[in-house]
Amino acid sequence: MKLRNLFYLLLLVSAGFTACSTDEGHPGYDYFPDMVYSRAYEAYSNNPNFDDSTQALMPVPGTIPRGYEPFHYQNMIEDYERAGTELKNPIPNTLENIAEGQYYYSIYCQVCHGPGGEGDGSIVQREKFPPPPSFLMEPLISLSDGKMFFSVHYGKGLMGSYASQLTKEERWKVILYVNSIQDKATATAGADTVKTTSEGAGQSTSGIQNANAVPPTEIQ
Ligand code: HEC
Repeated sequence: MKLRNLFYLLLLVSAGFTACSTDEGHPGYDYFPDMVYSRAYEAYSNNPNFDDSTQALMPVPGTIPRGYEPFHYQNMIEDYERAGTELKNPIPNTLENIAEGQYYYSIYCQVCHGPGGEGDGSIVQREKFPPPPSFLMEPLISLSDGKMFFSVHYGKGLMGSYASQLTKEERWKVILYVNSIQDKATATAGADTVKTTSEGAGQSTSGIQNANAVPPTEIQ
């Protein structure tokens, strides 16, 4: 055999060996290698192009998820007061919305606040929780819608936040329901004896007197 042919034979044999992968699960070739071995950085790999070499970047400060509406009130007393004067219930005061509010109330609030809002929910009766203040008496009967919304958003005292359980609309509907039981109590007791503070005048009932506050009782 000529030396040159021996050389070609050796080349062929060694090429044959190197083509074999030691990985038994690997077929020995890559179909579309530039897709198999991504040129893009992996999400959690290092990226030398950034100062902290983090590839998975944080969103730009102030970024808002699509469909999310920011709440422009901080959890502090000044903003609680501001919410009290600025926020108005955008949900129409219809019996349907009150009924929906009552539905959410029965799931999330009734256990403490009681079916009629008197602070006598089932866990209070079983002495597992101190009674919350009644919605039907001062100071809560005069509490503005905005302050209610703020307190349901951030929680207050022993009450937690309901911002993650109830959407904004659902929270406003619950407030419609609370308003409706308050209006009923006011109507029964006589406006003068129950509503005493100026804040309450017109606030808890703002624009909703015409609902006649007859909450559908069947859900209760
Ligand atoms: C675990 C028991 C509990 C649950 C459940 C609960 N609350 Fe309360 N809530 C309280 C207590 C206690 C207070 C009194 C807080 C305070 O003034 O320190 C309170 C106070 C409030 C106030 C008055 C806030 C203010 O600014 O003075 C509103 C309005 C209210 N709750 C609405 C709701 C609504 C609406 C729900 C359901 C989405 C709900 N709560 C669920 C215990 C509860």
